[in-house]
Amino acid sequence: MLLLLLFSLLVAVEVQEKAVALPSPSCPKSCGDVDIEYPFGIGAECAMEGFQLNCSKTGVPLFFDEIPVRDILLPQGQVRAMKHVSTMTRGSGEDPDIYGKDLSGTPFTYSGTSNHFMVVGAANTIAYIADNNFLVGCATQCSPNNHLKAQDGQSYCKCQAKLGGNMSNDYVYFNEVKNDTKRYTNRTAGGSADSYAVIMEAAAFGFNASLPNMTAFLEAAESRINKSDPYGGRVPVILNWVVGNGTCDVASRNKSSYACISNNHVCVDSNSSNGPGYLCNCKKGYSGNPYLPDPDGCKDTDECVVQNPPPCPGRCINIPGDFYCPPISYPRIVGLVVGPTIAGLIVVIAITCTFLVRERKKLANIKQKYFQQHGGMLLLQGISLKQGTAFSVFTEAELIEATNKFEEKNILGRGGHGTVYKGILKDGSLIAVKKCVSMTSEQQKKEFGKEMLILSQINHKNIVKLLGCCLEVEVPMLVYEFIPNGTLFHFIHGDNGCHNIPFSTRIHIAHESAQALAYLHSWASPPILHGDVKSSNILLDKNYVAKVSDFGASILAPTDESQFVTLVQGTCGYLDPEYMQTCQLTDKSDVYSFGVVILELLTGKKAFKLDGPENERSLSQHFLSTMKEDRLMDIIDDRIKSDSNIGLLEEVAELARQCLEMVGERRPSMRDVAEKLERLSKVMQHPWVPVQYDPEEMESLLGESSVANLEMICTGNFSMEKRIVQGLLESGR
Ligand SMILES: *[C@@H]1O[C@H](CO)[C@@H](O)[C@H](O)[C@H]1NC(C)=O
Ligand SMILES: *[C@@H]1O[C@H](CO)[C@@H](O)[C@H](O)[C@H]1NC(C)=O
Ligand SMILES: *[C@@H]1O[C@H](CO)[C@@H](O)[C@H](O)[C@H]1NC(C)=O
Ligand SMILES: *[C@@H]1O[C@H](CO)[C@@H](O)[C@H](O)[C@H]1NC(C)=O
Ligand SMILES: *[C@@H]1O[C@H](CO)[C@@H](O)[C@H](O)[C@H]1NC(C)=O
Ligand SMILES: *[C@@H]1O[C@H](CO)[C@@H](O)[C@H](O)[C@H]1NC(C)=O
Ligand SMILES: *[C@@H]1O[C@H](CO)[C@@H](O)[C@H](O)[C@H]1NC(C)=O
Ligand SMILES: *[C@@H]1O[C@H](CO)[C@@H](O)[C@H](O)[C@H]1NC(C)=O
Ligand SMILES: *[C@@H]1O[C@H](CO)[C@@H](O)[C@H](O)[C@H]1NC(C)=O
Ligand SMILES: *[C@@H]1O[C@H](CO)[C@@H](O)[C@H](O)[C@H]1NC(C)=O
Repeated sequence: MLLLLLFSLLVAVEVQEKAVALPSPSCPKSCGDVDIEYPFGIGAECAMEGFQLNCSKTGVPLFFDEIPVRDILLPQGQVRAMKHVSTMTRGSGEDPDIYGKDLSGTPFTYSGTSNHFMVVGAANTIAYIADNNFLVGCATQCSPNNHLKAQDGQSYCKCQAKLGGNMSNDYVYFNEVKNDTKRYTNRTAGGSADSYAVIMEAAAFGFNASLPNMTAFLEAAESRINKSDPYGGRVPVILNWVVGNGTCDVASRNKSSYACISNNHVCVDSNSSNGPGYLCNCKKGYSGNPYLPDPDGCKDTDECVVQNPPPCPGRCINIPGDFYCPPISYPRIVGLVVGPTIAGLIVVIAITCTFLVRERKKLANIKQKYFQQHGGMLLLQGISLKQGTAFSVFTEAELIEATNKFEEKNILGRGGHGTVYKGILKDGSLIAVKKCVSMTSEQQKKEFGKEMLILSQINHKNIVKLLGCCLEVEVPMLVYEFIPNGTLFHFIHGDNGCHNIPFSTRIHIAHESAQALAYLHSWASPPILHGDVKSSNILLDKNYVAKVSDFGASILAPTDESQFVTLVQGTCGYLDPEYMQTCQLTDKSDVYSFGVVILELLTGKKAFKLDGPENERSLSQHFLSTMKEDRLMDIIDDRIKSDSNIGLLEEVAELARQCLEMVGERRPSMRDVAEKLERLSKVMQHPWVPVQYDPEEMESLLGESSVANLEMICTGNFSMEKRIVQGLLESGR
């Protein structure tokens, strides 16, 4: 335990070291009368690298141990520093006093926009400054209108220049022109004349005015000798800074070095370091220090208090990052006469609103209740756990919109228990919405969400994809991908008579359907029984690829033996006879039903016919008896019979016969069936798409039949067998 504790402590320390170093609360907040704000700090532990200041004994924050700082302008990314004026004394033969400072390699530059280069003094003095990017200079000119008068009546020549950009060096170079030495100045003793040059804050001396305040400048320039005045001999200059190299976009990617820490910050790109760099600011509606973690960072501005005049005419409510002016109520503004009428109106409106809100709430409650009842929470949890599934929970409103309020003309198919509508989602994708009529047992309702979750995980190219469901209605609605070409049932038995579907196509469809069922039985986890395999539950997409649908009512294979499946399933003609006796649905029940589908493909006959001779009503019985009598070819569809494929036909018929075995155990598994069909379909070299088919004809044939008999969760018409089964169930067998 101790070791573990130690280890976690070590890890914690390491993590802390990696993060941007932050000032401890004990760091000084000011020096003299200057507030010190991070990233600046007094001492190395209190400042960001490169922003360290030293506080002098007299209470002056010093940069590089020499340049006093007057103000820290956090949002602008600037500081106002105080710099000595460089001086050259003409005719003295002495070296000029130069106070240049090279800032390259630091986060600082001399601001190109806030400062000017100023030269004052004797006539024809040339002075300039230069760094790697810019050279700025001027020669003093004197004319009756252009000289400066100091308060003592002395006159000076001057010139000033705007900077080309943000400069990193302010070293001054003087160049004297020997003539005109004293023409406009006799100020200094001994016949020599001083010239002054400095880069300085333009606004400080009103350089924009026609006559700068020479007195203030000279006071500053000439008091530099006064050691007791910390800012003596200095003029203000504005320095730009950035907290990091690179643009915001780049810098923000490296969290461990990104300086903007407050949650309510915005990053600002800055070119002030003559290359990409960035600064941090507080978001609009916040103020404070974006370089500090919350709650010391950017704090909400109380606009209602801070703004003058107040931002709202009436009451003002401060909200994070903003403020809100509640509307002024009518009676106060409107006069007495209109007042009562409006008041009455407001009462009526209020009552109506309350009523509507209550109704709405009631409706929302009902929706919520249904949602819970149908296991919605479980489903949502499941979905959120399994990322990547494209399963969504739709709202009722969405489906109403998609189907144009469940419009009649969008109906794709109708069954005894439900109706399927075609719909278009907002993104333009087509869907099929199954709206059921009722859902009976409580158990069924509860399990719904769980089943949806399992079904949503199924992803097979031959299975119609369940896109989502809607649970907030009394009976859940299911949303499937839209399959355009109708059902296999219509393909075989379409209204326009039997189609000339080549044998290879039929085998191909059988193979794909078998693969889908094999997948459900053997690879889906938990295994899923379809429970209602029939040709009208096999859909065909635009390339006539088979898609098995409607296992919405299918039963997850019972995992323990006590779990008997008692749900009524199946459709007349396809129902496993063994199921009629045991009332237990197994994977072999699906195999039986699939055998009937193979028969439909082989014979072109319907699975069950109410009209017709007694012994031919059930296709499976009819087929088995012909097989027994060795008259197979009598029942095979004439259009696929040919001398060349008799062997294949016999093989397929034999497969169907095995599927139709009375005893489930003797039937092959769906996997075996799929494998066998795959082999047979490979034997056939012909393309499976009906070549001799005229696409237009195909479309006309299938156009109407694409109103698919999409029997999904609820099985179709009350068939005779179903009634029998129901009877059996009710009588307790
Ligand atoms: C601050 O003062 C200390 C001690 O005088 C000195 O060692 C250090 O270099 C100074 N730092 C700066 C940034 O001037
Ligand atoms: C400079 O001084 C010399 C003599 O002292 C004079 O001849 C010349 O004109 C002066 N130049 C200017 C530009 O005033
Ligand atoms: C020089 O300064 C004195 C006062 O210090 C003044 O009386 C005199 O007129 C000045 N000379 C010129 C040429 O400006
Ligand atoms: C001149 O500078 C002063 C401050 O020194 C400022 O208030 C004023 O707006 C400036 N005028 C112009 C025209 O820039
Ligand atoms: C010039 O500067 C001095 C000292 O800062 C100040 O007292 C004076 O009012 C200023 N004059 C003008 C015209 O701005
Ligand atoms: C030096 O500066 C101090 C403080 O600003 C001031 O009180 C004093 O008069 C100045 N001394 C001279 C000689 O200008
Ligand atoms: C920015 O880049 C320069 C050189 O490219 C480097 O000297 C300096 O330390 C960098 N500054 C920061 C804050 O990373
Ligand atoms: C992020 O910043 C840290 C500290 O400056 C540095 O050590 C690390 O290499 C940077 N990571 C990347 C991906 O640039
Ligand atoms: C910074 O400089 C680059 C090119 O030098 C320019 O494209 C960009 O707009 C500048 N950004 C700012 C904020 O001035
Ligand atoms: C100088 O810095 C400012 C930011 O303070 C920036 O907007 C401007 O583009 C820079 N100028 C140049 C020439 O890089």
